[in-house]
Amino acid sequence: MRTAITNDIKYVGVNDHITDLFEGQYIVPNGIAYNSYVIMDEKIAVMDTVDEKFTQQWLQNLKNALNGRNPDYLIVQHMEPDHSANIVNFINEYPDAKIAASDKAFVMMKNFFGTDFADRQIILKEGDTLSLGRHTLTFLAAPMVHWPEVIVTYDSFDKVLFSADGFGKFGALDVQEDWACEARRYYIGIVGKYGMQVQMLLKKTAALDIQKICPLHGPVLEENLGYYLNLYNTWSSYEPEEEGVVIAYTSVYGNTKKAAMELAECLKANGCPKVVVNDLARCDMAEAVEDAFRYSKIVLATTTYNGDIFPFMREFINHLTERGFCKRTVAFIENGSWFPAAAKIMKGMLEKSKDITYAENSVRILSALNSENMGQINALAEEMCR
Ligand code: FEO
Repeated sequence: MRTAITNDIKYVGVNDHITDLFEGQYIVPNGIAYNSYVIMDEKIAVMDTVDEKFTQQWLQNLKNALNGRNPDYLIVQHMEPDHSANIVNFINEYPDAKIAASDKAFVMMKNFFGTDFADRQIILKEGDTLSLGRHTLTFLAAPMVHWPEVIVTYDSFDKVLFSADGFGKFGALDVQEDWACEARRYYIGIVGKYGMQVQMLLKKTAALDIQKICPLHGPVLEENLGYYLNLYNTWSSYEPEEEGVVIAYTSVYGNTKKAAMELAECLKANGCPKVVVNDLARCDMAEAVEDAFRYSKIVLATTTYNGDIFPFMREFINHLTERGFCKRTVAFIENGSWFPAAAKIMKGMLEKSKDITYAENSVRILSALNSENMGQINALAEEMCR
């Protein structure tokens, strides 16, 4: 794998193919990378550490890159343990190095490690700079992208933005895969709640001449940066990325599933540009949440269950609302054998979601699909394709 990002910036990160659930909940079929970089100049800065499972590999990568020299600074942009776990190990190895981070990051160091490294602190504020020689680093606060202590770093010599979790993705760097799919699932799942803060960061960085983006996960981005910046602008402004209909359903005995499948066929027959169907009990929930934010319209189909709705649908809608779901068209299919209340409950769960257009048509099944339901499905498909 390429380690030279520029003449002076070296990659010293690691690939993780061990973790089953990233952050305890996201499947990572192609693993994940914890990126770390070294800027070699008259002074040397190391950008972040890596997850605790990779201490030895990271220290070895670092040693190879340093080529007998000692680092002067460890820049801590983000304190989540996938990046901060080796701060103490780093200081044990390089006791003369200083740590540069935001004041909030030092409070977190005290909480994580029992020390805030008072003897070697450089507290970074918005706009502070650090000269390494040729390279001058400028630090920008990026609160809630994705924790409150986050800073990003701009190197004006190589025109590199070190973007912390921003522009990150699932997937280790020794696996080839499409960027957008796993970057979107990562963004919506992990940073999606903080669209406003991402928008603020995008505005701040818009004035910079950026040639490369070095995130803490995923590949270094260096060509066609407008593509990535545009996607981040779309995602963080909660605008749909594509026209299309997602049908998210749960089904106990297959009747609600049948309605979902019939609707999918009708949508396609009506010329809907994209139809995605997700069985919430069986699919990757993070992928289903990603789809809900990706497309312009969604149909929620579930049963009344224990006086509520089926648990996977409740979980799904909670994921949407806690991430600020808005600006979409929503329709309902409900099923109930004696007291169908699912549509009302689902709508109630979306009460605080802004700019939602509810479809005029809905489908109400009383156990199994009948001809009346088929008429409702056709009407709903026709409306959703308008
Ligand atoms: Fe990759 Fe928010 O840590």
